[in-house]
Amino acid sequence: MNFSTAWLTTNRTCNNHCTWCYAKNTLGNSQIMDFENAKIAIKELKKRGVKRIILIGGEPTIYPNFIQIIRYIRSNNMLVSIATNGRMFKDMRFATEVLSAGITTIDISLKAFSEEEYKKNTNSYGLEEMLRGYSNLKQLGFKPSISYVLVNNREETIDNLINFLLEKDISQISLQFVKPILNLSGCELPMDLTEMSSLVEIIYNKMTNKKINYSIGIPFPLCLIDSNILTHLIRERRIFNCCHVPKGSGINIDENFKIIPCNHFAEFPFSDTPIDFSNEKALDNLYNTEIVQHFKNLSKCYPAKKCQTCNLWSQCGGGCFTYWLSLDPNDYIR
Ligand SMILES: C[S@@+](CC[C@H](N)C(=O)[O-])C[C@H]1O[C@@H](n2cnc3c(N)ncnc32)[C@H](O)[C@@H]1O
Repeated sequence: MNFSTAWLTTNRTCNNHCTWCYAKNTLGNSQIMDFENAKIAIKELKKRGVKRIILIGGEPTIYPNFIQIIRYIRSNNMLVSIATNGRMFKDMRFATEVLSAGITTIDISLKAFSEEEYKKNTNSYGLEEMLRGYSNLKQLGFKPSISYVLVNNREETIDNLINFLLEKDISQISLQFVKPILNLSGCELPMDLTEMSSLVEIIYNKMTNKKINYSIGIPFPLCLIDSNILTHLIRERRIFNCCHVPKGSGINIDENFKIIPCNHFAEFPFSDTPIDFSNEKALDNLYNTEIVQHFKNLSKCYPAKKCQTCNLWSQCGGGCFTYWLSLDPNDYIR
């Protein structure tokens, strides 16, 4: 098995506790990725064609070997990115050290537009720290990307977001919709697919009006969006689909070296046995098991018959697989 991108969950510990976090049930887990084994895994990923490693958590910037792991990945000629809440970059010395270790991209997730709202959403006061971190990185000549997860369908949220971006002079935003939190009894659906599609129309109108540079990850079938607006969104290249699952181009490794289908399956590894990366057959053996093959087949299939003849299929892929664990695609797909 070869991959182009790998996600490493370095730790589940976090300095925030976001109410919508797909990994919220794992945050009490203090297990961290063993650095010596991580190095073995990184070497094996390199052999398997991986070009970019994304460090994720929990919060990767509080991983004890954070600087060392960045250096190690770079010394193996791979790119290294992080998904972070950005708070640790409040410390200019830390920001300088991370940049000099050779980090390639930093994606900072914005959690709220005021300190009170930040506290409500994450159980911490972190907005000022995140903004200081963003400004420190910019001062050092590095431009982090900013992302924001849409967790409600209120028009007011989009107005507040736009005002915040203009006020803080943030010139680009990548938007994502909240995805289900999976658990053994099914999954919690924080927002309905039709609510999301209506919000896309509001975003398009408001962001265009204020000339904001934005992109949106769409986790639902594209046919739910008004066709006129969809044409504009495609033409302006506003839509992205970052899901690697149907393409099989990515691999997600948790802090215990278990392989998870994607980050949203935080508590559901393919197997309870960690991968021993010093055994070069271990990954292939796992990928040949029935459960992995079954998952791969499921994730590639058309969720509804109508999708088979849709000319947007390659861009759309039928939406995020996790929704169809609890919803019937035939009730949604047009
Ligand atoms: C789990 S966090 C880990 C990295 C870091 N601690 C952070 O807050 O960015 C990675 C990203 O996933 C997003 N995220 C968490 N739960 C989500 C959910 N249920 N649906 C969509 N995105 C989610 C976060 O907002 C963040 O942008």
